Amino acid sequence: MSVSLIVLAAGKGTRMNSDQPKVLHRIGAAPLLHHALQAGLALDPAQVVVVTGHGASQVEKSARAYDDGVKVVLQAEQLGTGHAVAQAAPLLADAAGDAIVLYGDTPFVRAETLQAMLDARARHAVVVLGFEADDPGRYGRLVTQGEDLERIVEYKDATDEERAITLCNSGVICAEASVLFDLVAQVGNENASGEYYLTDIVALARAKGLSAGVVQCDEAETLGINTRAELSQAEAAFQARMRDQAMENGVTLYDPATTYFALDTVIGRDTTIGPNVVFGPRVTVESGAEIAAFCHLEGCHISRGATVGPFARLRPGAELAEDVHVGNFVEIKNAVLDEGVKVGHLTYLGDAHIGERTNIGAGTITCNYDGANKHHTEIGPRSFIGSNTMLVAPVTVGRDAMTASGSVITSNVPAEALAVARARQENKPGLAARLMDRFEKIKAERQKEKQ
Ligand code: UD1
Ligand code: CA
Repeated sequence: MSVSLIVLAAGKGTRMNSDQPKVLHRIGAAPLLHHALQAGLALDPAQVVVVTGHGASQVEKSARAYDDGVKVVLQAEQLGTGHAVAQAAPLLADAAGDAIVLYGDTPFVRAETLQAMLDARARHAVVVLGFEADDPGRYGRLVTQGEDLERIVEYKDATDEERAITLCNSGVICAEASVLFDLVAQVGNENASGEYYLTDIVALARAKGLSAGVVQCDEAETLGINTRAELSQAEAAFQARMRDQAMENGVTLYDPATTYFALDTVIGRDTTIGPNVVFGPRVTVESGAEIAAFCHLEGCHISRGATVGPFARLRPGAELAEDVHVGNFVEIKNAVLDEGVKVGHLTYLGDAHIGERTNIGAGTITCNYDGANKHHTEIGPRSFIGSNTMLVAPVTVGRDAMTASGSVITSNVPAEALAVARARQENKPGLAARLMDRFEKIKAERQKEKQ
């Protein structure tokens, strides 16, 4: 049975106090919207519609970056969650099967929970995701009778008796698409907020003789982000979950509390990670790699058996083949290091390809940027780049070649050649001793004058 997904993301998020639309604030280096989409897309939906409003073009761009099949519809005025869902109707006019409504600012709903809601559709025409709240606050309350959900009442409209209910509305709702749009079209706005409430569809369904039910989940799953404080709490909860998951998957974390993951981080078994390591987006690490303390990694791939850090920075496009060693104070960007390459210390490699087993000496820099353009450096296999070599790109060093320490390499080095590109040394016999002698005398004179 095919499923459609409707993700509500038009709200401003006033309490974030931000120029950025709320759903683009990040947890685990990924927009809240991507978290919601990830859970929804796990159901393999036939269609996905994101409802945008505040910051529509940015939100649209972000949704498409996650999945270019996503459709986007603009809700020009935020007249309520029911009105938001209605905006998706034209795009899903011929959608067969069920539709699930998700919120873009509720990042932790699990795919398994959504599946449980789809399963519950066998028993009910409308299925609502609810949770028992420690502090029900201003959440909508679920009014039930036995197994059945009778209606949802918003906090503002609720009586004292209804406010005493602790079973709350998460906002996630599932129904057959055609039924959902029928019901939403009937929702009015005569309530305390003057908004078109999606939640009203439950009572409307019941009035038509359709049944409604509740699937319950943990409160942590329905956590919505409204403030920066909630964002930081959600980040902490996300990191705690990712750390546990990594360790369960066979990754050693020496100090889990200081390892920071991104939503899409992938790490193989028996990899070890030292303290204070940060994973930005798009990092994959194979099995048995070693990442020492204080590394910052983003958009890179680390192969089996490679060792990185301490204090290394791998930027987008850094690709380390098997058994590569990247040591301290090394920065690598858009560079492919073939098997067994060693870059031990204090080096910048950008826009480069390094052939297998080449050794890059301390202080080596690819001078890849001329102020306007980036240029490529090509270094063949089994070469030896002397300490403090400047490679002024575009430049090629052949296989089995060497550069002398301190060289500024501006033209290509042929295979098997040694390039020396530095001023020749001149020794002045005895000059150091004579100079030191003179300086000692000057110091002694000064000392006498002071007394
Ligand atoms: C909503 C529910 C409430 C539930 C709570 C859970 C309604 C009427 N109320 O209340 O029962 O307990 O969520 O967090 O549904 N949005 C739009 N367009 C709009 C209005 C909202 O896209 O016109 C989006 C927002 O961006 C947000 C989501 O819908 O992602 C929820 O809207 P919000 O205003 O936060 O609803 P609540 O008042 O919290
Ligand atoms: Ca809310």
